[in-house]
Amino acid sequence: MTRGASRLSRLVCVDCGAARGITEILTACPGCGGLLEVVSDLASFGRSGAAWRDLFEGRRQAAASPVTRPFETSGVWRYREHVFPELDEGEIVSKPEGNTRLYPLAALGERLGFSHLFVKHEGENPTLSFKDRGMTVGVSWAKKLGVSTVACASTGDTSAALAAYAAEVPGMRGVVLVPQAKITGEQLSQALHYGATTLALETDFDGCMRVVADLTARQPVYLLNSKNPVRIEGQKSIAFEAIHDLGFTVPDWFVVPVGNAGNISAIGKGLREWLDLGVVDKKPRLAGIQASAADPFYSSYLTGWKERVTRTADETAASAIRIGAPVSHPKAQREIQYFDGVVERVTEEELLDAFALANRHGLAICPNSAVALAGAAKLRAADVIKKNDLVVVIATAHALKFSGTAAKYHEGAGRFANPPRTIPPTVDAVIDALKQQA
Ligand code: F0G
Repeated sequence: MTRGASRLSRLVCVDCGAARGITEILTACPGCGGLLEVVSDLASFGRSGAAWRDLFEGRRQAAASPVTRPFETSGVWRYREHVFPELDEGEIVSKPEGNTRLYPLAALGERLGFSHLFVKHEGENPTLSFKDRGMTVGVSWAKKLGVSTVACASTGDTSAALAAYAAEVPGMRGVVLVPQAKITGEQLSQALHYGATTLALETDFDGCMRVVADLTARQPVYLLNSKNPVRIEGQKSIAFEAIHDLGFTVPDWFVVPVGNAGNISAIGKGLREWLDLGVVDKKPRLAGIQASAADPFYSSYLTGWKERVTRTADETAASAIRIGAPVSHPKAQREIQYFDGVVERVTEEELLDAFALANRHGLAICPNSAVALAGAAKLRAADVIKKNDLVVVIATAHALKFSGTAAKYHEGAGRFANPPRTIPPTVDAVIDALKQQA
Protein backbone atom coordinates (compact mmCIF):
# COMPACT_ATOMS: atom_id res chain seq x y z
CA MET A 1 0.00 0.00 0.00
CA THR A 2 2.82 2.38 0.80
CA ARG A 3 4.19 3.64 -2.48
CA GLY A 4 7.88 3.77 -1.72
CA ALA A 5 8.99 7.24 -0.72
CA SER A 6 5.97 8.94 -2.28
CA ARG A 7 3.56 8.64 0.55
CA LEU A 8 -0.16 9.21 0.17
CA SER A 9 -0.69 10.95 3.51
CA ARG A 10 0.37 14.22 5.12
CA LEU A 11 -0.28 15.88 8.44
CA VAL A 12 -2.23 19.10 7.93
CA CYS A 13 -3.04 21.74 10.56
CA VAL A 14 -6.79 22.35 10.83
CA ASP A 15 -6.14 25.97 11.87
CA CYS A 16 -3.41 27.33 9.57
CA GLY A 17 -3.35 24.67 6.86
CA ALA A 18 0.42 24.04 7.10
CA ALA A 19 1.40 20.56 5.93
CA ARG A 20 4.06 18.30 7.46
CA GLY A 21 5.43 14.89 6.62
CA ILE A 22 3.40 11.96 7.87
CA THR A 23 6.42 10.36 9.54
CA GLU A 24 7.11 13.40 11.73
CA ILE A 25 6.31 12.74 15.37
CA LEU A 26 3.94 15.63 16.02
CA THR A 27 0.74 15.96 17.97
CA ALA A 28 0.18 19.66 17.28
CA CYS A 29 1.14 22.12 14.53
CA PRO A 30 4.69 23.35 15.21
CA GLY A 31 3.74 26.72 13.69
CA CYS A 32 0.49 27.69 15.39
CA GLY A 33 -0.18 24.92 17.91
CA GLY A 34 -3.39 23.88 16.12
CA LEU A 35 -4.71 20.34 15.84
CA LEU A 36 -3.31 18.18 13.08
CA GLU A 37 -5.23 15.82 10.85
CA VAL A 38 -4.20 13.15 8.37
CA VAL A 39 -5.01 14.02 4.77
CA SER A 40 -4.50 11.18 2.29
CA ASP A 41 -4.71 11.32 -1.48
CA LEU A 42 -7.29 8.57 -1.78
CA ALA A 43 -8.40 9.66 -5.26
CA SER A 44 -5.00 8.47 -6.52
CA PHE A 45 -6.18 4.87 -6.18
CA GLY A 46 -8.40 5.64 -9.17
CA ARG A 47 -11.34 3.56 -7.93
CA SER A 48 -15.00 4.48 -8.29
CA GLY A 49 -17.36 4.43 -5.32
CA ALA A 50 -18.87 1.18 -6.61
CA ALA A 51 -15.41 -0.39 -6.94
CA TRP A 52 -14.60 0.52 -3.33
CA ARG A 53 -17.89 -0.97 -2.12
CA ASP A 54 -17.16 -4.20 -4.04
CA LEU A 55 -13.64 -4.38 -2.62
CA PHE A 56 -14.84 -3.98 0.97
CA GLU A 57 -17.70 -6.42 0.53
CA GLY A 58 -15.30 -8.95 -1.01
CA ARG A 59 -13.01 -8.64 1.99
CA ARG A 60 -15.93 -9.08 4.35
CA GLN A 61 -16.85 -12.33 2.60
CA ALA A 62 -13.21 -13.44 2.68
CA ALA A 63 -13.19 -12.98 6.44
CA ALA A 64 -14.42 -16.57 6.63
CA SER A 65 -10.79 -17.72 6.31
CA PRO A 66 -8.83 -15.88 9.02
CA VAL A 67 -5.78 -18.09 8.57
CA THR A 68 -4.99 -16.97 5.06
CA ARG A 69 -6.56 -13.50 5.25
CA PRO A 70 -5.89 -12.18 8.78
CA PHE A 71 -6.57 -8.55 7.98
CA GLU A 72 -9.87 -9.13 6.29
CA THR A 73 -11.12 -10.26 9.71
CA SER A 74 -10.56 -6.80 11.22
CA GLY A 75 -13.46 -4.38 10.91
CA VAL A 76 -10.86 -1.62 10.83
CA TRP A 77 -8.30 -2.96 8.34
CA ARG A 78 -10.95 -4.22 5.93
CA TYR A 79 -11.13 -0.51 4.98
CA ARG A 80 -7.36 -0.14 5.24
CA GLU A 81 -6.74 2.19 2.29
CA HIS A 82 -9.27 4.62 3.77
CA VAL A 83 -8.16 4.10 7.36
CA PHE A 84 -4.43 4.65 6.96
CA PRO A 85 -2.75 3.80 3.66
CA GLU A 86 0.79 4.15 5.03
CA LEU A 87 1.05 0.70 6.61
CA ASP A 88 1.67 -2.60 4.89
CA GLU A 89 -0.24 -5.62 6.10
CA GLY A 90 2.82 -7.08 7.81
CA GLU A 91 3.21 -3.93 9.90
CA ILE A 92 -0.25 -4.02 11.44
CA VAL A 93 -0.85 -4.88 15.12
CA SER A 94 -4.41 -6.19 15.13
CA LYS A 95 -6.38 -8.39 17.51
CA PRO A 96 -8.57 -8.19 15.22
CA GLU A 97 -10.96 -5.40 16.23
CA GLY A 98 -14.26 -4.07 14.92
CA ASN A 99 -16.92 -6.38 13.47
CA THR A 100 -19.21 -5.17 16.22
CA ARG A 101 -22.89 -5.95 15.96
CA LEU A 102 -25.42 -3.47 14.71
CA TYR A 103 -28.49 -4.27 16.81
CA PRO A 104 -31.92 -3.54 15.38
CA LEU A 105 -33.98 -2.46 18.39
CA ALA A 106 -37.63 -2.85 17.47
CA ALA A 107 -39.11 -3.00 20.97
CA LEU A 108 -36.89 -0.33 22.51
CA GLY A 109 -37.34 1.81 19.39
CA GLU A 110 -41.11 1.57 19.62
CA ARG A 111 -41.04 2.53 23.27
CA LEU A 112 -38.96 5.62 22.47
CA GLY A 113 -40.92 6.52 19.33
CA PHE A 114 -38.52 5.35 16.61
CA SER A 115 -39.45 3.14 13.65
CA HIS A 116 -35.81 2.37 12.79
CA LEU A 117 -33.49 2.45 15.78
CA PHE A 118 -30.11 0.68 15.70
CA VAL A 119 -27.27 0.47 18.19
CA LYS A 120 -23.73 -0.13 16.91
CA HIS A 121 -22.21 -1.87 19.93
CA GLU A 122 -18.58 -0.84 20.12
CA GLY A 123 -18.37 -2.50 23.52
CA GLU A 124 -17.91 -5.71 21.53
CA ASN A 125 -14.32 -4.78 20.67
CA PRO A 126 -11.40 -6.74 22.21
CA THR A 127 -10.98 -4.41 25.21
CA LEU A 128 -14.71 -3.68 25.33
CA SER A 129 -14.66 -0.18 23.88
CA PHE A 130 -14.39 1.63 20.54
CA LYS A 131 -10.88 2.78 21.44
CA ASP A 132 -9.43 -0.42 19.94
CA ARG A 133 -10.27 0.84 16.47
CA GLY A 134 -7.99 3.83 16.92
CA MET A 135 -5.38 2.06 18.98
CA THR A 136 -4.66 -0.62 16.35
CA VAL A 137 -3.64 2.23 14.03
CA GLY A 138 -1.78 4.25 16.66
CA VAL A 139 0.25 1.35 18.01
CA SER A 140 0.98 -0.07 14.54
CA TRP A 141 2.30 3.34 13.49
CA ALA A 142 4.29 3.75 16.72
CA LYS A 143 5.90 0.37 16.04
CA LYS A 144 6.69 1.34 12.45
CA LEU A 145 8.25 4.62 13.65
CA GLY A 146 10.39 2.66 16.08
CA VAL A 147 8.87 4.23 19.17
CA SER A 148 9.50 2.32 22.39
CA THR A 149 7.25 4.17 24.87
CA VAL A 150 3.63 5.14 24.23
CA ALA A 151 1.48 7.10 26.68
CA CYS A 152 -1.96 8.55 27.20
CA ALA A 153 -4.18 10.31 29.70
CA SER A 154 -7.43 8.46 30.10
CA THR A 155 -10.83 8.15 31.73
CA GLY A 156 -10.29 4.39 31.56
CA ASP A 157 -10.95 3.09 28.06
CA THR A 158 -8.09 4.59 26.05
CA SER A 159 -5.76 3.34 28.79
CA ALA A 160 -7.14 -0.20 28.48
CA ALA A 161 -6.74 -0.17 24.71
CA LEU A 162 -3.26 1.36 24.77
CA ALA A 163 -2.13 -1.19 27.32
CA ALA A 164 -3.57 -4.12 25.36
CA TYR A 165 -2.07 -3.14 22.01
CA ALA A 166 1.31 -2.15 23.45
CA ALA A 167 1.39 -5.55 25.16
CA GLU A 168 1.49 -7.20 21.74
CA VAL A 169 4.64 -5.38 20.64
CA PRO A 170 7.87 -6.80 22.05
CA GLY A 171 9.84 -4.06 23.78
CA MET A 172 7.05 -1.47 23.74
CA ARG A 173 6.23 0.15 27.05
CA GLY A 174 2.72 1.47 27.72
CA VAL A 175 2.29 4.32 30.20
CA VAL A 176 -1.16 5.44 31.28
CA LEU A 177 -2.10 8.47 33.38
CA VAL A 178 -5.53 8.17 34.94
CA PRO A 179 -7.38 10.46 37.34
CA GLN A 180 -7.13 8.83 40.73
CA ALA A 181 -10.37 7.14 41.90
CA LYS A 182 -12.28 8.46 38.88
CA ILE A 183 -12.17 5.39 36.61
CA THR A 184 -13.89 2.08 37.30
CA GLY A 185 -12.19 -0.89 38.91
CA GLU A 186 -12.75 -2.94 35.78
CA GLN A 187 -11.07 -0.33 33.58
CA LEU A 188 -8.15 -0.08 35.99
CA SER A 189 -7.79 -3.86 36.04
CA GLN A 190 -7.36 -3.86 32.27
CA ALA A 191 -4.34 -1.54 32.33
CA LEU A 192 -2.82 -3.56 35.17
CA HIS A 193 -3.39 -6.93 33.49
CA TYR A 194 -1.86 -5.76 30.22
CA GLY A 195 1.25 -4.63 32.05
CA ALA A 196 1.07 -0.88 31.47
CA THR A 197 2.88 1.44 33.84
CA THR A 198 -0.23 2.79 35.53
CA LEU A 199 -0.04 6.16 37.22
CA ALA A 200 -3.02 7.47 39.17
CA LEU A 201 -2.78 11.26 39.38
CA GLU A 202 -4.54 13.27 42.05
CA THR A 203 -6.47 15.36 39.54
CA ASP A 204 -9.20 14.99 36.92
CA PHE A 205 -8.89 13.86 33.27
CA ASP A 206 -8.12 17.39 32.08
CA GLY A 207 -5.27 17.57 34.60
CA CYS A 208 -3.88 14.23 33.37
CA MET A 209 -4.13 15.48 29.78
CA ARG A 210 -2.01 18.55 30.59
CA VAL A 211 0.65 16.41 32.26
CA VAL A 212 0.86 13.86 29.45
CA ALA A 213 1.09 16.63 26.85
CA ASP A 214 4.05 18.07 28.78
CA LEU A 215 5.61 14.64 29.18
CA THR A 216 5.46 13.85 25.47
CA ALA A 217 6.91 17.28 24.65
CA ARG A 218 9.89 16.72 26.97
CA GLN A 219 10.64 13.01 26.66
CA PRO A 220 10.81 10.57 23.74
CA VAL A 221 7.34 9.31 24.53
CA TYR A 222 4.69 8.93 21.82
CA LEU A 223 1.27 10.40 22.68
CA LEU A 224 -1.63 8.09 21.88
CA ASN A 225 -4.54 10.26 22.97
CA SER A 226 -7.07 11.23 20.30
CA LYS A 227 -5.04 14.41 19.85
CA ASN A 228 -2.76 12.13 17.85
CA PRO A 229 -4.26 12.42 14.35
CA VAL A 230 -3.05 8.98 13.27
CA ARG A 231 -4.79 7.23 16.15
CA ILE A 232 -8.25 8.50 15.39
CA GLU A 233 -8.04 7.53 11.72
CA GLY A 234 -9.05 4.05 12.87
CA GLN A 235 -12.17 5.37 14.52
CA LYS A 236 -13.52 6.47 11.14
CA SER A 237 -14.21 2.77 10.61
CA ILE A 238 -17.14 2.95 13.06
CA ALA A 239 -19.05 4.92 10.42
CA PHE A 240 -17.68 2.81 7.55
CA GLU A 241 -18.70 -0.44 9.20
CA ALA A 242 -22.13 0.78 10.32
CA ILE A 243 -22.92 1.88 6.75
CA HIS A 244 -21.54 -1.41 5.39
CA ASP A 245 -23.70 -3.30 7.95
CA LEU A 246 -26.71 -1.49 6.49
CA GLY A 247 -25.83 -2.67 2.97
CA PHE A 248 -24.22 0.71 2.20
CA THR A 249 -27.33 2.61 3.23
CA VAL A 250 -26.49 5.86 5.00
CA PRO A 251 -28.56 6.41 8.14
CA ASP A 252 -30.35 9.71 8.69
CA TRP A 253 -28.56 10.17 12.02
CA PHE A 254 -25.46 9.06 13.84
CA VAL A 255 -25.84 9.78 17.56
CA VAL A 256 -22.56 9.82 19.48
CA PRO A 257 -21.56 10.54 23.10
CA VAL A 258 -18.99 13.35 23.30
CA GLY A 259 -16.15 13.59 25.81
CA ASN A 260 -12.79 14.67 24.42
CA ALA A 261 -14.59 14.98 21.05
CA GLY A 262 -12.18 12.78 19.07
CA ASN A 263 -14.70 10.14 18.13
CA ILE A 264 -17.34 12.39 16.62
CA SER A 265 -14.55 14.17 14.72
CA ALA A 266 -13.32 10.85 13.34
CA ILE A 267 -16.79 9.73 12.34
CA GLY A 268 -17.41 13.02 10.53
CA LYS A 269 -14.04 12.88 8.76
CA GLY A 270 -14.66 9.33 7.56
CA LEU A 271 -18.10 10.27 6.26
CA ARG A 272 -16.71 13.26 4.37
CA GLU A 273 -14.07 11.05 2.77
CA TRP A 274 -16.66 8.47 1.69
CA LEU A 275 -18.81 11.25 0.24
CA ASP A 276 -15.79 12.63 -1.68
CA LEU A 277 -14.90 9.20 -3.05
CA GLY A 278 -18.50 8.42 -4.02
CA VAL A 279 -18.68 5.37 -1.74
CA VAL A 280 -21.88 6.97 -0.41
CA ASP A 281 -23.94 9.80 -1.81
CA LYS A 282 -26.08 10.88 1.12
CA LYS A 283 -25.09 13.09 4.02
CA PRO A 284 -26.32 11.83 7.38
CA ARG A 285 -26.81 14.24 10.30
CA LEU A 286 -24.70 14.06 13.44
CA ALA A 287 -25.89 14.43 17.02
CA GLY A 288 -23.29 14.84 19.76
CA ILE A 289 -24.55 14.20 23.28
CA GLN A 290 -22.99 15.15 26.60
CA ALA A 291 -23.80 14.60 30.26
CA SER A 292 -25.01 17.81 31.98
CA ALA A 293 -22.20 17.44 34.52
CA ALA A 294 -19.61 17.70 31.73
CA ASP A 295 -21.20 19.77 28.98
CA PRO A 296 -18.65 22.28 27.59
CA PHE A 297 -19.24 21.27 23.97
CA TYR A 298 -22.99 21.68 24.43
CA SER A 299 -22.47 25.10 26.04
CA SER A 300 -20.28 26.17 23.11
CA TYR A 301 -22.97 24.99 20.68
CA LEU A 302 -25.52 27.13 22.56
CA THR A 303 -23.38 30.24 21.92
CA GLY A 304 -23.62 29.50 18.18
CA TRP A 305 -19.95 28.43 18.41
CA LYS A 306 -18.95 32.02 19.22
CA GLU A 307 -17.28 30.91 22.41
CA ARG A 308 -15.19 27.81 23.13
CA VAL A 309 -16.48 27.02 26.60
CA THR A 310 -14.46 24.96 29.09
CA ARG A 311 -15.44 24.05 32.64
CA THR A 312 -14.51 21.83 35.53
CA ALA A 313 -16.41 18.61 34.89
CA ASP A 314 -18.47 17.35 37.81
CA GLU A 315 -19.04 13.81 38.95
CA THR A 316 -21.23 11.78 36.60
CA ALA A 317 -22.16 8.13 36.13
CA ALA A 318 -20.85 8.66 32.60
CA SER A 319 -17.34 8.81 34.04
CA ALA A 320 -15.59 8.11 30.71
CA ILE A 321 -16.85 11.44 29.36
CA ARG A 322 -16.16 13.48 32.49
CA ILE A 323 -14.10 16.01 30.55
CA GLY A 324 -14.20 19.80 30.86
CA ALA A 325 -11.90 20.89 28.02
CA PRO A 326 -12.40 18.63 24.97
CA VAL A 327 -9.13 18.59 23.06
CA SER A 328 -10.72 17.94 19.65
CA HIS A 329 -13.35 20.68 19.99
CA PRO A 330 -12.36 22.51 16.75
CA LYS A 331 -12.57 19.34 14.67
CA ALA A 332 -15.83 18.25 16.26
CA GLN A 333 -17.38 21.68 15.76
CA ARG A 334 -16.42 21.53 12.07
CA GLU A 335 -18.12 18.14 11.66
CA ILE A 336 -21.28 19.23 13.50
CA GLN A 337 -21.50 22.25 11.22
CA TYR A 338 -20.78 20.27 8.04
CA PHE A 339 -23.31 17.57 8.83
CA ASP A 340 -26.07 19.96 9.94
CA GLY A 341 -25.65 18.47 13.36
CA VAL A 342 -27.01 19.19 16.79
CA VAL A 343 -25.60 18.96 20.30
CA GLU A 344 -27.74 17.92 23.26
CA ARG A 345 -27.15 17.16 26.90
CA VAL A 346 -28.84 14.80 29.35
CA THR A 347 -29.23 14.76 33.13
CA GLU A 348 -27.95 12.03 35.44
CA GLU A 349 -31.49 10.72 35.82
CA GLU A 350 -32.01 10.60 32.06
CA LEU A 351 -28.73 8.83 31.37
CA LEU A 352 -29.13 6.33 34.19
CA ASP A 353 -32.68 5.48 33.19
CA ALA A 354 -31.54 5.03 29.57
CA PHE A 355 -28.69 2.81 30.83
CA ALA A 356 -31.17 0.63 32.72
CA LEU A 357 -33.81 0.66 29.99
CA ALA A 358 -31.42 -0.32 27.19
CA ASN A 359 -29.98 -3.15 29.22
CA ARG A 360 -33.50 -4.19 30.30
CA HIS A 361 -34.02 -4.79 26.58
CA GLY A 362 -31.12 -7.24 26.53
CA LEU A 363 -28.26 -4.95 25.50
CA ALA A 364 -25.06 -4.54 27.51
CA ILE A 365 -24.13 -0.91 27.01
CA CYS A 366 -22.30 1.42 29.37
CA PRO A 367 -23.53 4.67 30.97
CA ASN A 368 -21.56 6.76 28.43
CA SER A 369 -23.35 4.97 25.60
CA ALA A 370 -26.60 5.58 27.45
CA VAL A 371 -25.87 9.30 27.22
CA ALA A 372 -26.17 8.95 23.45
CA LEU A 373 -29.32 6.86 23.71
CA ALA A 374 -30.95 9.28 26.16
CA GLY A 375 -29.98 12.15 23.85
CA ALA A 376 -31.51 10.36 20.87
CA ALA A 377 -34.72 9.87 22.85
CA LYS A 378 -34.72 13.55 23.82
CA LEU A 379 -34.19 14.68 20.22
CA ARG A 380 -36.95 12.32 19.12
CA ALA A 381 -39.32 13.69 21.77
CA ALA A 382 -38.56 17.23 20.52
CA ASP A 383 -39.21 15.99 16.95
CA VAL A 384 -35.71 16.98 15.82
CA ILE A 385 -35.26 13.32 14.92
CA LYS A 386 -38.36 12.15 13.05
CA LYS A 387 -40.19 8.93 13.76
CA ASN A 388 -39.26 7.30 10.45
CA ASP A 389 -35.62 8.39 10.44
CA LEU A 390 -33.02 5.64 10.36
CA VAL A 391 -31.00 6.24 13.51
CA VAL A 392 -27.69 4.66 14.52
CA VAL A 393 -26.69 5.24 18.14
CA ILE A 394 -23.02 4.55 18.83
CA ALA A 395 -22.64 2.56 22.05
CA THR A 396 -19.02 3.16 22.94
CA ALA A 397 -18.25 0.60 25.66
CA HIS A 398 -19.57 -2.49 27.40
CA ALA A 399 -21.83 -2.45 30.46
CA LEU A 400 -19.51 -4.80 32.34
CA LYS A 401 -16.83 -2.11 32.59
CA PHE A 402 -19.33 -0.26 34.79
CA SER A 403 -20.85 -2.97 36.97
CA GLY A 404 -20.66 -0.77 40.08
CA THR A 405 -22.92 1.81 38.43
CA ALA A 406 -25.42 -0.91 37.55
CA ALA A 407 -25.40 -2.34 41.07
CA LYS A 408 -25.91 1.13 42.57
CA TYR A 409 -28.77 1.88 40.19
CA HIS A 410 -30.62 -1.35 40.93
CA GLU A 411 -30.27 -0.88 44.66
CA GLY A 412 -31.57 2.68 44.40
CA ALA A 413 -34.87 4.32 43.56
CA GLY A 414 -34.49 4.57 39.75
CA ARG A 415 -37.51 3.97 37.50
CA PHE A 416 -36.22 0.64 36.25
CA ALA A 417 -34.50 -0.55 39.43
CA ASN A 418 -34.47 -4.33 39.80
CA PRO A 419 -32.91 -4.91 43.23
CA PRO A 420 -31.64 -8.34 44.23
CA ARG A 421 -33.26 -9.82 47.36
CA THR A 422 -31.64 -12.08 49.90
CA ILE A 423 -33.95 -14.86 51.09
CA PRO A 424 -33.69 -18.07 53.14
CA PRO A 425 -32.55 -21.15 51.17
CA THR A 426 -35.98 -22.81 50.94
CA VAL A 427 -38.42 -23.38 48.11
CA ASP A 428 -41.19 -21.73 50.16
CA ALA A 429 -39.16 -18.58 50.41
CA VAL A 430 -38.61 -18.64 46.64
CA ILE A 431 -42.34 -19.15 46.01
CA ASP A 432 -43.15 -16.29 48.41
CA ALA A 433 -40.67 -14.05 46.64
CA LEU A 434 -42.19 -14.87 43.23
CA LYS A 435 -45.67 -14.03 44.56
CA GLN A 436 -44.50 -10.69 45.89
CA GLN A 437 -43.04 -9.70 42.52
CA ALA A 438 -45.95 -10.96 40.39
N1 F0G B 1 -17.58 6.71 25.49
C1 F0G B 1 -16.62 6.05 26.15
C2 F0G B 1 -16.94 4.73 26.73
C3 F0G B 1 -15.34 6.63 26.28
O1 F0G B 1 -14.38 5.96 26.93
C4 F0G B 1 -15.09 7.89 25.72
C5 F0G B 1 -13.80 8.54 25.84
C6 F0G B 1 -16.15 8.51 25.02
C7 F0G B 1 -17.37 7.90 24.94
C8 F0G B 1 -15.98 9.84 24.37
O2 F0G B 1 -15.19 9.81 23.22
O3 F0G B 1 -13.48 11.42 23.94
O4 F0G B 1 -13.67 10.73 21.57
O5 F0G B 1 -15.42 12.18 22.60
N2 F0G B 1 -12.88 8.11 26.58
C9 F0G B 1 -11.52 8.64 26.63
C10 F0G B 1 -10.66 7.71 27.46
C11 F0G B 1 -11.43 10.06 27.00
O6 F0G B 1 -9.64 8.16 27.99
O7 F0G B 1 -10.96 6.53 27.56
P1 F0G B 1 -14.39 11.11 22.79
